[in-house]
Amino acid sequence: MTEPWIWPGPSRGPARLLDELAARGFSVLRGDACSMLSPEEAARAPWSFAERLLGERPLLVERQPIKAVPGGRSFAASAVAAPLHTDSQCFAGAPPAVQILACIRPAERGGGCLLLDTWPLLAAIERADPELFRALFTVYRRIPFVFGDVFGPTMALRDGALAFTHAPVAPPGDAVAARLARFIDASRPIELSLGPSDLLVVDNRRMLHGRRAFEGGPRELVRLLVWMGTTLPSPRAYHALAAEIAGAASRRMAAAPEATRRRLGLGAPPPPEARRRLGLVLEMLRGVPPGVLAARERIPEPQLYRLRDAALAAAEAALAGGVEGAEDGALVEAIARMDRG
Ligand SMILES: [Fe+2]
Repeated sequence: MTEPWIWPGPSRGPARLLDELAARGFSVLRGDACSMLSPEEAARAPWSFAERLLGERPLLVERQPIKAVPGGRSFAASAVAAPLHTDSQCFAGAPPAVQILACIRPAERGGGCLLLDTWPLLAAIERADPELFRALFTVYRRIPFVFGDVFGPTMALRDGALAFTHAPVAPPGDAVAARLARFIDASRPIELSLGPSDLLVVDNRRMLHGRRAFEGGPRELVRLLVWMGTTLPSPRAYHALAAEIAGAASRRMAAAPEATRRRLGLGAPPPPEARRRLGLVLEMLRGVPPGVLAARERIPEPQLYRLRDAALAAAEAALAGGVEGAEDGALVEAIARMDRG
């Protein structure tokens, strides 16, 4: 059993948390109402909660209540067991760096959190089945999720960061997924029981997570998915291999539209200044007062409003086209072309 650690305050807390994430991919700490790190605070003000915990301003935060409701069919809204998977919805071409689960109320029976570290899993696969190990880095495939499908290798660079992508249910007819499932089924995940106020923080690009079925009492958690400017550490050899594969794929896909390349994880990274400006716009949209932003960034307020107007006009123009339906088809074709090439 992992004993939750006590938050030592803002000067040492984030560094300890990042150290633990680097060492084993997850950390469990006791929520602290005095430090505004309670689960209720995660639900009320997710952006500032994530900033306090991680010690840096997030690029984006997604909040999701995890609570069984009558008729709920998703894992978040039901009491069924959730198979091991990653949360791989993308922002700026990458899945969330960190998943935070804040426990308001545990279940009376069951509901344990399951975690599996993909780095030792990959090392075991490399020893036992080198061909599968190679395929996990090289085979571009369609990986289906409730939020939409992810296209690319299982282990790949996404926005420059190494990320493992794994769906809770293996797609039928996918040989790589079937072979990988045999290794995952034979693994022994870590199991954690979160108590009231406990916070579980997970490196979401490294760890698979799942949940035991539960019953009795209204189990309630708040899940935050956090995209950060800082990249968490990853094994150099895996990063180098993924970079080599992405480089070769990028050359083969040089003529593909940028939208297609982007969804394959091959998009050109935006200039840092563009990302900083997008961050400011997102802060405005979530309600940070423009005067506060202008003073902090030392830019005139009218400039902030011009940025917001430019970002929303670009978003409106992008949304005017019927991109959604066409794009999955284009990706399937692009992958087939890569296979033939
Ligand atoms: Fe999940």
